[in-house]
Amino acid sequence: MSKFVEWSGALSVGIEEIDEQHKVLAELVNRMHQAIHERHGSDVVKDILTELAEYTRIHFAVEESLMRILNYPDYENHKAVHEELLQHVVDLQEKVASGKTAIGFELMYFLKNWLTKHIMEEDMAYSDFFLKAGAQAKLKKKSWIQRLWSS
Ligand SMILES: [Fe+2]
Ligand SMILES: [Fe+2]
Repeated sequence: MSKFVEWSGALSVGIEEIDEQHKVLAELVNRMHQAIHERHGSDVVKDILTELAEYTRIHFAVEESLMRILNYPDYENHKAVHEELLQHVVDLQEKVASGKTAIGFELMYFLKNWLTKHIMEEDMAYSDFFLKAGAQAKLKKKSWIQRLWSS
């Protein structure tokens, strides 16, 4: 079976650390799709959704920190989009937890779109800026990312 969210060059923002994080998010969406496909119970789906929300928070924090460090001009807008995207996942978590919604394939397409659209539209827009501003060198000094992880 081919993967639900297939990684391709079209999703690469050209910065390895960020691509790796996007791949983790894609894998979580794929795991959820697989769980539904195999008809695992809602507990499995809930756990993956929790992981997705947690990792999304970390990933957004990394991108936003880079934007602040590098003075990315569109920081405020990008941060607002992140808040909206995270809220979608939190809403989904609440709906699933309360039993109002079962995650089906329709919601999976929502999540696929939720991830790939943001990467290809908003994230891609910082690619050149980040590369020219030395984002890769910043990311190599991982101490500040580790602080984010442990906070
Ligand atoms: Fe991203
Ligand atoms: Fe982003």
